Amino acid sequence: MKKIGVAILGLGVVGGGTYEILCSHREFYRHTQNVDLEVVCVLEPDRKRTDALGVGAEKIAENIFEVVSNPDVNVVVECIGGVTQSRQYVLDALNAGKTVVTSNKELLCKYFHELEGVARRVNAGLYFEATCAGGVPVVRTLIDAVQSNVIPSFEGIVNGTTNYILTKMKEGLSFEEALSEAKTLGYAEADASADLDGLDAAYKLSILASLAFHTKVPFTKIYREGIRGIESEDIQEGCGLGYTLKLFAVGRQTEHGVDVRVHPAFVEKGHPLASVDGCLNAVCLNGDSVGEIVLTGKGAGALPTGSAVVSDILYAATHDGHRYSTFKNTATADKEVKFISDFESKYYLRLLVPASADATAVTALAKNNIAVRKLLRKTDGDQTSVILVTDTAHESAMKKALSRMRTSGIEVGAVIRILA
Ligand code: HSE
Repeated sequence: MKKIGVAILGLGVVGGGTYEILCSHREFYRHTQNVDLEVVCVLEPDRKRTDALGVGAEKIAENIFEVVSNPDVNVVVECIGGVTQSRQYVLDALNAGKTVVTSNKELLCKYFHELEGVARRVNAGLYFEATCAGGVPVVRTLIDAVQSNVIPSFEGIVNGTTNYILTKMKEGLSFEEALSEAKTLGYAEADASADLDGLDAAYKLSILASLAFHTKVPFTKIYREGIRGIESEDIQEGCGLGYTLKLFAVGRQTEHGVDVRVHPAFVEKGHPLASVDGCLNAVCLNGDSVGEIVLTGKGAGALPTGSAVVSDILYAATHDGHRYSTFKNTATADKEVKFISDFESKYYLRLLVPASADATAVTALAKNNIAVRKLLRKTDGDQTSVILVTDTAHESAMKKALSRMRTSGIEVGAVIRILA
C-alpha cells in the first residue's frame, strides 16, 4: 500500500479540522483508496492547540526546516493564513520537492503565479480546493468536471461569515450580535474586516474567475463593496418586495470584457442562491453545454474546510503527475483582456425626500435614462420616504442620477444592486 506522509503547518480551525479527519479516517482511506495517509509532523507553536488535538510530542516540529527536510513528509498542508510566513514556508516546501495543499485564499490569490512557477519547476503539486467556498468542491468542478464547457458566467455566495450575518439580520438580530456569533462559530477570519469588506470573497473570486475564464483575473481588477453599510430596514423592505439580500461574487465574460465584482445585492426569492442561508456557500456555474450547475454546502468551519484539504491530499496521493493552470499564470492580467468598470445592474433605492423635492428623484433617474419599475411612498409629516426599484442601468448613469438627487436635498438612505 502506498504510504503518504503529511505535515500540517498551523492547527487553527482548518488545520485542526484537517488533523481530525486524517486521524479519524485513516483506516477508511486505507480501505477505499489503498493509501495510508499518516500525519508525520505538525508545525504549531501553541501547545494548547496541539494538546487539544492530542498531538504527541514526537510529532511536533521545531521549525520549517525540520518539516521540509524530513524524507517521510510527502505533502505539506499550509493552514497558517496571512501571506508573509506562509508564503516563505510554502516556497520552502515546494523547493524541497514537497507537494503543497493550502487553504490560504489570500496567499493563493496574491502569489499563485509565483507558487505555481516553483511547483512546475520542481514537479511538485499545488492544490487549493479549500481556498474557495470551504467544503464545496467548486475548484475541482472547474478544473475537472466542467473543463468541457465554456463558462460565460458564474455567481456565488463565497463568504460564510457575511452570509451568516445577513441571514441573522433578516431574522431580527443586529449586525453586531450576528458578527459576534459568526466569530464564536469559527467562521470569521482572524481580522473580520476581511470578511465584512468583501476582501475574502474577492480573493476567492480572483481564483475562481481565473479558473473559469482560463485567464488571469488579478484581485486588483475586482470591484469590491462589503456589507458594513447594510441596514436591517433595507433587508426587511427587500423581503416585502420579494427579494433576499446576499453578498455576491459575480464573474461574467461579456462582449465588452470581463466583469468581476463583489458586492451585496438583492435576488428574487426564486433564484437558486436566494435560500442559501447561514454559513452555507454556493456557486451557480453556467456552462455553454451543461447549462446551470449549482453547488452548495458549508463554506466555513473546521470539518467542512478540512474535508476539502483532505480531498486534495487524496487527489495528490492517488494520481500520477500533477495538474497546473490552463492559463498563463502571471502576476498581472493578459494585456489583451479588457475588464469592465462601468457594469450594469438594476437598483433598489431608499430615499428621504422633502415635500419640496417630491418629483425630483424620478426626474433625476429619467434624465439619465433609468426606468423606474416600482415606487413605494411612505409619508411621515413633511418627510416622505420613497423606495424605488429601477430597470437595468450603468453604474455611471446611476451615480449621476444620485448626485442630482443629493443636490436637490434628497437624502439617499440606501443604494443596493439587484442581481439580474
Ligand atoms: N472567513 C471565511 C468565511 C472562512 O467566512 O467564508 C472560509 O473561507
